[in-house]
Amino acid sequence: MRRMQRVCILGGSGFVGRHLVNRLHDEGIHSRVPTRHRERAKQILVVPGLELMQADIHDPETLQRLFRECDAVVNLVGILNEKGFDGSGFRRAHVELTDKVLEACRATGVPRLLHMSALGADADSGPSHYQRTKGEAEQRVMAYADTLDVTIFRPSVIFGPEDSFFNQFATLLRLSPGVFPLPTPRARFSPVFVGDVAEAFTRALRDRETFGQRYDLCGPETCTLDELVRYTARQAGLRRCVWPLGDRFSRLQARVLQRLPGKPYSWDNYLSATVDNVCECNHLPQLGIHPTAIDAVVPGYLANKTERARYNQFRQEARR
Ligand SMILES: NC(=O)c1ccc[n+]([C@@H]2O[C@H](COP(=O)([O-])OP(=O)(O)OC[C@H]3O[C@@H](n4cnc5c(N)ncnc54)[C@H](OP(=O)(O)O)[C@@H]3O)[C@@H](O)[C@H]2O)c1
Repeated sequence: MRRMQRVCILGGSGFVGRHLVNRLHDEGIHSRVPTRHRERAKQILVVPGLELMQADIHDPETLQRLFRECDAVVNLVGILNEKGFDGSGFRRAHVELTDKVLEACRATGVPRLLHMSALGADADSGPSHYQRTKGEAEQRVMAYADTLDVTIFRPSVIFGPEDSFFNQFATLLRLSPGVFPLPTPRARFSPVFVGDVAEAFTRALRDRETFGQRYDLCGPETCTLDELVRYTARQAGLRRCVWPLGDRFSRLQARVLQRLPGKPYSWDNYLSATVDNVCECNHLPQLGIHPTAIDAVVPGYLANKTERARYNQFRQEARR
C-alpha cells in the first residue's frame, strides 16, 4: 500500500474533524480541509501542516482539485437539521454530495475513502430524513466497493469537549426556569467518545481488513435520554426538575420548536429518536480500541462551565 501522506477531510472543520486532524498529525499525515467559512474554521490552523481552504465542495471540479495529490478522502459532512422541511437539504448534504465525492475519487484516482454515517442509518425503513439519507449514502458508497477501498463508520451520539450533545443539554438546562420538559425520554443511546472515533478512522486508514466494511461505534454504556439529561444536570451543578414528556407532548414540542430560528428541536429529530441509537455489536474492540466511559471525560468539561465549579476547582488547587 502506498504511504499515507495527505488526506482530504470534508467536514474537517467540525467537532469530529478537529479531533481527527490532530490525531492524523500525530501519525505524520497532513490534512487538507475545505470549508465554507475559512474565518470560522481558523482554530484548526494551529495544527502544523494543515491546509485550510475556502471551497464549495458541492462543485464537482472543486472536489477534483481538492482530491489531487491526496492518498485518501474522509467524508465527515453531515447535518442534523435542514433549512426547509421536505428532506431536500438532507438529500443534498448526505446523498448528492456522496455521489460527487465518489465520482471525484474515481476521476482523480484516490484509492481510499472513509465515510461517516450514523447508527440507525437506513435507506428503507429509517423513520427520519436524516436516517434515510444517511442510509442511502451508505448504499452509494458500498456500490463503489469493487473499485475503491471504502470503509463506513456508524457511531451513536458522540461526546467530548465541544460536543453538541452534553454541552447543548447543559446550556438548555441552564436556560430553563427550573422545570425542563424532555421529549422522547426513553430513547436509548450508547454515547461514544470522540477520541475513540478519531482513533477508529486513523487505524482504518491503513488497515486492509477494514476495506469494504461497516463499523458500528458505541461507548461502553447504554442509557436513556432521561438518564443522560439528569446526569448532565448533576455534572453541570444545576438543580433542575427534568419532566419526561409522553409521546403526544414530544410530538407537539417538535412541531413548535422547529418553527423557531435555528430549529432547536425538529420533527425530524423527534422521528430519529423513535428508534434506539445503540449497537447490536460494537466494533470498536474489533479495531483494537477500548471504548471510553462517559464518566472518564464528561465531568471534566461540564463541571468547568459553572462559576461555582471553577471556584471549587480553584479552592481545591489552592488547598483551601
Ligand atoms: N456528533 C455526533 O454526535 C454524531 C453522531 C453520529 C454521526 N455523526 C456524523 O459525524 C459527522 C461529523 O459530525 P460533527 O459532529 O463533527 O458535525 P459538525 O461539527 O456539524 O461538522 C460538520 C462539518 O461539515 C461541514 N458541513 C455541514 N453541512 C455542510 C454542507 N451542507 N455543505 C458542506 N459542508 C457542510 C461543515 O463544514 P464548514 O461549516 O466548515 O463548511 C462542518 O464543519 C457528520 O456526518 C454526522 O452526521 C455525528
